[in-house]
Amino acid sequence: MLAYATKQITGNLVGMNDLDNEEIDDLLDRAEEFKHGAKAKLTEPVYVVNLFFENSTRTHTSFEMAERKLGLTILPFDPSRSSVTKGETLHDTLLTLGAIGANIAVIRHSQNRYYDDLIKGGDLSLGIVNAGDGSGEHPSQSLLDLMTIREEFGKFTGLRVLICGDIAHSRVARSNAEALGKLGAKVLFAGPREWFADDLANLGEYGQWDELLPTADVVMMLRVQHERGVGTTDFDPSEYSKQYGLTVQRAQRMKKGAIVMHPGPINRGVELASELVQAPCSRFVKQMQNGVFVRMAMLERICAERHLGGMK
Ligand code: CP
Repeated sequence: MLAYATKQITGNLVGMNDLDNEEIDDLLDRAEEFKHGAKAKLTEPVYVVNLFFENSTRTHTSFEMAERKLGLTILPFDPSRSSVTKGETLHDTLLTLGAIGANIAVIRHSQNRYYDDLIKGGDLSLGIVNAGDGSGEHPSQSLLDLMTIREEFGKFTGLRVLICGDIAHSRVARSNAEALGKLGAKVLFAGPREWFADDLANLGEYGQWDELLPTADVVMMLRVQHERGVGTTDFDPSEYSKQYGLTVQRAQRMKKGAIVMHPGPINRGVELASELVQAPCSRFVKQMQNGVFVRMAMLERICAERHLGGMK
C-alpha cells in the first residue's frame, strides 16, 4: 500500500483507495448501464463547478459532457479570470463557491494531495472529485481504463498489465497500479530506471521492456511529461522511441489478443508510433469514450452519498 493511501471521507472521490473492489465493480456496472442508454436518477437541481488549474482536454471536456448528460447545472469557472489571481486560496475559493450554492467541485491541480486539508478541515459544503493531482492520483482515468480492460477481457484476475514510460511523474500509473493490484491483475513496470518510482515497487515488478512486452495482455504507454521537468535536458525523442517506445516493429512482438492503451495526450512517434494510435490493437479512442460514462457514474455516486438531486 502507498503511504498516502487512506480512505477519504464519504461524499468525495479523490483516489482509488477511496473505493473497495465491490465499489469499483458497482461504478463500472453503472458506467456500462449509462453506455447502454440508462438515464440518471436525479430529480432535483445539482450544481457543479469544474476547477482546472492545469490544462486538460479529455478530463475537462469529458467531465463536462458527463455533467450535461446527468442533467447537472455547470457553474463556469476560469482560474485565470478568478480571484485566485489575487491570491485567494483554494480553500477560500471553495468556501465561496459552496456559499453561492455549488454542490460538487471537480478539481485538477498541480499540487499532490491538494485535497487533504480541504476534506479534513470539514468546513466545506461541496463534494470534491479529484480530476488529477500533480503526480498523485487520477481516479477517473483509472476507472475508465478499468472499464476498457473489463470490456475487453471480462476480468482482471490473472491479467498481466505492463505500464511503460515516465512512471515517477504519472498519476495514471499510481492510480492504476493501486487499483489493478487490488483487483487481482499482475502489474509490471518498464521504462528508464531513473523514471521509476521506488514507492511503486510494492505495487508491481520493474523489468526490461523488451522482455516483458511479449508477456503482457495490456500494454499501457505513458507520456513523457515535459511540463514536470522530465527529459528537458538531453532528451532525444528518437532515441527514447528506439529504447522505450512502442514502435510498429515492437508491437509485432505483442501477445495475440493483447491491447495497447494510452491515457493521452500522446507524443506521437515518441512513446507510441503514430501508426499504432488507431490500430486494431489500440483502445485509445475507446478509453476516451468510456471516460464519459465512468464520470457519470462517479458524479451520480457523489450525489447519492450527499443526498443531492433528490437521491436517497
Ligand atoms: N488523460 C488526461 O488526463 O488527459 P487530459 O490532460 O487531456 O485531461
